[in-house]
Amino acid sequence: MAEIIVRKSGGLKGTVFTSGSKNAVLPLLAATLLTEQKCEIDSVPNLKDVKVMCELLESFGANVTEKLDENVILVEANTLKTSVAPIGPVRSMRASIVSMGPVLARTGTARIPLPGGCAIGDRPIDLHIKGFIALGADVDMIEDESGNGYVEARAEKLVGAEMYLDTPSVGATENIMMAASLAEGTTIIENPAQEPEIVDLANYLNKMGAKIKGAGTDMIKIEGVPELHGATHSVIPDRIEAGTYMLAAAITKGNILVENMLSNHVVPIIAKLRECGVVITEEDDGLRVSAENANLKSADLKTLPYPGFPTDIQPQFMAFLSIVSGSSTILETVFENRFMHINELNKMNAGIIEDGRRAIVKGGVQLKGAEVRATDLRAGAALILAGLVAEGETVISDIYHIDRGYDDIIGKLKRLGADIERID
Ligand code: EPZ
Repeated sequence: MAEIIVRKSGGLKGTVFTSGSKNAVLPLLAATLLTEQKCEIDSVPNLKDVKVMCELLESFGANVTEKLDENVILVEANTLKTSVAPIGPVRSMRASIVSMGPVLARTGTARIPLPGGCAIGDRPIDLHIKGFIALGADVDMIEDESGNGYVEARAEKLVGAEMYLDTPSVGATENIMMAASLAEGTTIIENPAQEPEIVDLANYLNKMGAKIKGAGTDMIKIEGVPELHGATHSVIPDRIEAGTYMLAAAITKGNILVENMLSNHVVPIIAKLRECGVVITEEDDGLRVSAENANLKSADLKTLPYPGFPTDIQPQFMAFLSIVSGSSTILETVFENRFMHINELNKMNAGIIEDGRRAIVKGGVQLKGAEVRATDLRAGAALILAGLVAEGETVISDIYHIDRGYDDIIGKLKRLGADIERID
């Protein structure tokens, strides 16, 4: 099995370019199923999850041309040959569920294998289903002859409706927004997710002829249209990747220019790092993050839906807090089981105590290299950051998680001076 070896590296220095956002490009690719015309998505990150989504689009019958060396994907879904998603891609990538809204809107039916839970939680889809039912679909949980669970939605016609999301679910907001784009009449989503990736998707859908207002606020209004046309769109930069490199500068007491990022997408990360004594300055082409002469101190953390502190940066921030002086408390409010990395960090002498949704970080420890396991994508990134400052060598296994969501993380860190390599 492939592994990543990380050794203690001095302060990382240099410039890192932020790739396109994983959590924006996946729904954008799903949206190309809403039209029979040609679509072009640019600034696409080179990620395993992007390849899986392209495989999924092709399984529905779309023609997909991946030009990942140019960060471009072309999709032409002029005829869909099926509305049943294959088990493989769905099981390997939960985000496949956002293909359900477009396929339902386009064909009148959609049958998606139940996406399994994962390390960070059981990841229910009740809000997605509630949204489709509100739009007039019949939704059933069914089993195929080999006992695999599916969710199936059917609707002669989708009709606009008003709905409230108990949790501002990113995926449910995306699914409902895409289905409602082709519904008859107006849809109002109260308490939607407000992430930048929602805004990026709404911008793309509007380029395709949809009529969506309010994305990024606490109410989204969608006026259905009879059909959508093809359009070209560039994916927004990945705020979580950018945040991960900001943490790399902080934890190694380095000085990194994080290029091609949108600072207004990372406000809580900037605020928290500044609270810890990291110096962050805006430059023309990005954010400079410096902790070279910083007198770092701890800060408490609470994850929340956007615009709160992002749960996807919680593991990386925990690694950082474990070495700064002073204890701190981390409260994870978004996912019920997003502390799998505590065990692994403790193998590196982090001394973190888990108490339900709360983690108590002792702080001020000297991390020690160890053999650890990436339990999910962001936990893997946290272990890489920890390995950069740990005494000795850190060997990270199950790194397929990392390949899913970071474009060339080994190359980018190497160019910043990290002592890191991948052993296949
Ligand atoms: C998206 O997942 C992201 N993934 C996640 O990033 C991110 O952590 C998450 O949003 C929250 O910001 C993609 O965009 C591909 P949710 P998603 O639906 O849509 C509960 C990463 O590392 N919920 O907003 O699955 C759910 O259990 C990944 O890049 C319901 O109760 O997240 C969770 O507690 C990890 N019912 C909370 O809402 C539902 O029907 C947030 O989930 C749906 C969700």
